[in-house]
Amino acid sequence: MRLSGKVAVVTGAASGMGKAIAELFAAEGAKVVVSDLRIETAQSVVTEIEARGGTAIAVAANVAKEEDVQQLIDSAVLQFGTLDILINNAGIMDNFVPAADLTDELWDRVFAVNTSGPMRTTRKALPIFTEKKSGVIVNIASAGGLHGSRAGAAYTASKHAVVGFTKNVGFQYASLGIRCNAIAPGGVSTNISTSITAPNPFGMERAMIGMPLNPRTGEPEEIAKVALFLASDDASFVNGTVVTADAGWTAY
Ligand SMILES: NC(=O)c1ccc[n+]([C@@H]2O[C@H](COP(=O)([O-])OP(=O)(O)OC[C@H]3O[C@@H](n4cnc5c(N)ncnc54)[C@H](O)[C@@H]3O)[C@@H](O)[C@H]2O)c1
Repeated sequence: MRLSGKVAVVTGAASGMGKAIAELFAAEGAKVVVSDLRIETAQSVVTEIEARGGTAIAVAANVAKEEDVQQLIDSAVLQFGTLDILINNAGIMDNFVPAADLTDELWDRVFAVNTSGPMRTTRKALPIFTEKKSGVIVNIASAGGLHGSRAGAAYTASKHAVVGFTKNVGFQYASLGIRCNAIAPGGVSTNISTSITAPNPFGMERAMIGMPLNPRTGEPEEIAKVALFLASDDASFVNGTVVTADAGWTAY
């Protein structure tokens, strides 16, 4: 059990990678706060974890709302006594909208969830981690956080910002026993494509141009294993960096 006794908060944990991370962490002995916008689906993840002998609670939280984030981290501490691991996983796509067609509303919505969300949860968790001189943050960024045309302009910029935030937090809090890393997944088989409701034809064509280079699509469980490594003491010397998990797609 690599996370025995640890308390972990996972955002966006009702589906996809967040769900796989919550399940794997619980199987490795962590007490998991399964958080999502969709509380009923989060609750069913908790039920599955409990059926396998794990410990978890579901907490409804929109990471774009400060009051929800406050209540999320407070619930973890209230229920389990502390916080050890924060997984910033909740994220949304942007319909491949290119820069000329961006609206303020789309830009603000994507940044609110993908970038301000991890900032808010991190800001709330750091005083807890600083006091105990230990804590781990793993941000689910994207290949789109390292490369220019894996999605639309807002998603790409929002995930590049997550990478910068990860490096800043990782370095600045390193001497306080805190680590902060990101994962940059390539294409992973999840429900995120359901958020692509009206793809922009030009933006999608420019984004899809590199898809023939993608060796394969990944499974959420493959990302969960990388998150487990980064959250565990096995990664004690890994900080302020981004681990790409994409079958080699971005290596070309
Ligand atoms: N699937 C991919 O190919 C891929 C590739 C690279 C990066 N990512 C990133 O991985 C992360 C997880 O995505 P996924 O593919 O598992 O998607 P998913 O849609 O299967 O799961 C995302 C979950 O986040 C929740 N969510 C959305 N907005 C939220 C909010 N404001 N507050 C709280 N929860 C919210 C959704 O309800 C959903 O349960 C995202 O940050 C995404 O950008 C995905």
